[in-house]
Amino acid sequence: MSEIEKLKVELKNINAEYAKIKTLPPEERGEFGRQMNAKKQAILRQITELEEAAESENVEPIDVSAPCAPNQPIFKLDLGSKHPLMVELDRVVKIYSDMGFNVMESRQLDDEFHMFDSLNFAQGHPARDGYDTFRTSEGFIPPAHTSTMQHRALKKYKKDLENGGQIAVVIPGRVFRNEDVDATHEHTFYQCEGVFVSKDANMGQMFGVLKRFFELYYGQKLNIKTQPGYFPFTEPSAEFLIEKPAALGGKGWLEMGGCGMIHPNVLKTAGIDPEQYHGFAWGGGIDRLVMLKYGLNDVRYFESGKLDFLEEF
Ligand code: DAH
Repeated sequence: MSEIEKLKVELKNINAEYAKIKTLPPEERGEFGRQMNAKKQAILRQITELEEAAESENVEPIDVSAPCAPNQPIFKLDLGSKHPLMVELDRVVKIYSDMGFNVMESRQLDDEFHMFDSLNFAQGHPARDGYDTFRTSEGFIPPAHTSTMQHRALKKYKKDLENGGQIAVVIPGRVFRNEDVDATHEHTFYQCEGVFVSKDANMGQMFGVLKRFFELYYGQKLNIKTQPGYFPFTEPSAEFLIEKPAALGGKGWLEMGGCGMIHPNVLKTAGIDPEQYHGFAWGGGIDRLVMLKYGLNDVRYFESGKLDFLEEF
C-alpha cells in the first residue's frame, strides 16, 4: 500500500471515530471535535503534498532527438509548397538546359560596372536612368535586369570558345525597379537572360531558339515576331513578341522581352574578339510568362503572400 493510500485509510478511520461524538457528554464534545478536526486537516495536508510531489516525478521526459514514427508528426502542420514562380522558373530552366544551355544564377546585389559599364552604357547616357534602379547607401545596385550577368557569363565560358566550342548560357534571376506598382508592374520580379556566342551566331538562330522555347513552354505551335528596340548592349536590338497562347483566346501579339546581337564593345570588355566571334542575347520577364500561362491579370499576387492565391497552384 502506498503512503497516500495509508493516509486515506487513516482519514476514513477518523471519520468513523468522529461518529462517536454523539455518545460523549455535551461538555466534552467541543474539545473532541477540535482534536478530530486538527488530525483530519493534518492528514489532508500530507496527502496534498504527496500528490504534488508524485505529479512532478511522473512527468515523462520527451526525447526531442528521437525519430518520428512514419506519418506521425509531433506537431500537425499544413505543409507549404513551392512558390508558383519558382515552379515555373524550374520549367523554363529545364527547357533551356535540354536545348544544351548552361545555367548560371543571377545575384540580388550588383554594382555599377555590371549594371551599366560592362553593357556599353556610355557614362552619363540617359539610358542609365531608364532602368529606375534602386541603390544602397554604399552605391550598390539591386539588379534592374538579368543582363548584369552577361559580362560574367562571357568571361566564365570564354574558354569554351577558345576550345572550338560556343558559349550557351541562361541566367534566371530576381530583378528590382524603383517604379510605381500596379496590376502589370512590380518593383520586384523575375527575368531569364540568354547568351549565345560562336563563330557564326546570327539572328536566325536566335529566333529559332526563342520560337522553340515558347512552343515548348506553352505546349503549342506559336509564331514570334520582332519590332525595333533600343538597348546599348545589342546592335541591332529588337523587342520580341509572341502570338497569344490558345489558353487566352489566341488572337493578337504580346511583347515578351528584348533581344539582339551582342554589341562588339560588350564582347571586347569580356576579352572576346568581336572580329572572330558573334553573339546574341535576350531577356524577358518570368512573371509575365506565367501570368499568360494561367490567365492571371494582377502581377502583385506573386509577391503578396496571399495564401488563398498560392494554394490554387
Ligand atoms: N535587359 C533588357 C531589359 O530588361 C532586356 C534585354 C534586351 C536583354 C536585349 C537582352 C538583350 O539580353 O539582348 O529591358
